Amino acid sequence: PAELERLQNKLLELRKQGKLFIQNGDVGYSSAPSNIALLKYWGKETNREQIPLNSSLSYTIGGFRSFTKVTALGRFLPNEEKTVSYFKNKLFLDENSKENKLPPKMDRLIRSILFPFADEISIEINSHNNFPTACGIASSASGYAALVGAIADLLQLEKHFSKLELLFWLSEWARLGSGSATRSVFTSEEESFVKWEAPILNKNKFTNTSSVKFHPKWRQLQHSVFILNSSEKQTSSSDGHKYAQTSPLNIIRTSGISHKLKLLQKALLEFDFECVQSLTEEDAYSMHAVMQTGEPKACYLTNEVSNLIGLFIQLRNEYDVKAFWTLDAGPNIHILYMPEAKIMLQKFHEISQTMIEREIKILTNSFNEGLLIGKNS
Ligand code: DP6
Repeated sequence: PAELERLQNKLLELRKQGKLFIQNGDVGYSSAPSNIALLKYWGKETNREQIPLNSSLSYTIGGFRSFTKVTALGRFLPNEEKTVSYFKNKLFLDENSKENKLPPKMDRLIRSILFPFADEISIEINSHNNFPTACGIASSASGYAALVGAIADLLQLEKHFSKLELLFWLSEWARLGSGSATRSVFTSEEESFVKWEAPILNKNKFTNTSSVKFHPKWRQLQHSVFILNSSEKQTSSSDGHKYAQTSPLNIIRTSGISHKLKLLQKALLEFDFECVQSLTEEDAYSMHAVMQTGEPKACYLTNEVSNLIGLFIQLRNEYDVKAFWTLDAGPNIHILYMPEAKIMLQKFHEISQTMIEREIKILTNSFNEGLLIGKNS
C-alpha cells in the first residue's frame, strides 16, 4: 500500500543520512497485550492484504501479554560492498531452544519493515506469552503487536517519529501480521477500547485504528475466560476469514456493523452497560451464525456452550449484576463484568462444572497495561 511505501522511503532516506543504524547483535524489546473484540472482525476482502470486511471494536486485556526480544543478525557496514549473503529470519517461542517455523506472513512483514537493510540484516525473534496457547485468548494479536514494537525499538524509531506517527506505523504493521493485532498497539489505560474501521465503500481505501473515548466507570471492568476446551482449533482464524463470504448471512451481519459501532461508542461514553452487553452478545451470536452457515462450517457455539450461556444469563438475572459474555473463534467463554458480579461468577463456575462434568479453568486479566517498548517492557 502507498502508505507503507511512504514509510519505507522515509526509512531508506534516514538510513542514507546515516541516522538509522543497526549492527549485528543489536536488540529491541517490547511487550503487548491481547484484546477481546466486542464487535468482531470476521472476514477480509479477497484480493487485498488484510482489509477487513467490517469494522470492529475491542477491549484491551493487558494482563495477557506477549513478551518479545528481537536481535539483529548479519552486519551493516555503510561504506563497504555488500558482503553478507546470509539472510534468514528466525523464530523461537516459549524460551524453547528449538527453532520454530516462521510463518510466511511474518517473514514478509519483517522484510517489508527492514526493507532499507534488505539482504544485510535479518532478525532472531524470541517470544513468549504469559498465558497458555489455545486457551481462547488471541496470541496473534499480542504476538504481532509485540513483534512490531520490538522492531521499532531495534530501529529506535521513537527518535525519528512523533508518538502519533509511530503509533500509526505500528498499527499498520501489526495489521499486516494479524488484523486483531492492530488493536493491541495502544499504550495507556485511557486507550483500553480500540476500534479498527474498515474502508467505507467508494469513500476511503484504507483502514484506520484509533482508541475510543469511554466513561471512567469502565476502568473497573474485569475480564475472565472460562476454558472449556484447550485443544488447538481445527480451523485457524486466518482460514476462517476466507470462508465468511460463503455464508449468506455475512452480508446481513457486515451491513449492520457501522450502525452498531456508533451505538457501541455512545454506550461506552455514557456507561450504558445494558447497551454494551446486548450489542456484544448479539454480535457474538451473529459471527457464530456466519461461521455455522459458511462453507466449510465451523461450529464453536455447541450445545454445551449454548447451555452454559443460558445458565450465565439466568444467574445474571437472579443476582442482578452487570456482566456479559462473548466468544471468539473458539468454544471458550469470555466474561466481562463489574466487580460486584464476582460472587455470581463463582456460582456460575460451580454449576457449569457439575453440568458438563469436567473441570473448567478460569484465567482472569489482572491489569490493564498497553503496549510497552524498550528493555523494561
Ligand atoms: C474472531 O486477527 O486472528 O478473534 O488477521 O487472519 O490474523 P488474521 O485474523 P485474526 O482474527 C480475529 C478474529 C476474532 C475476532 C476479533 O478479534 O475481532
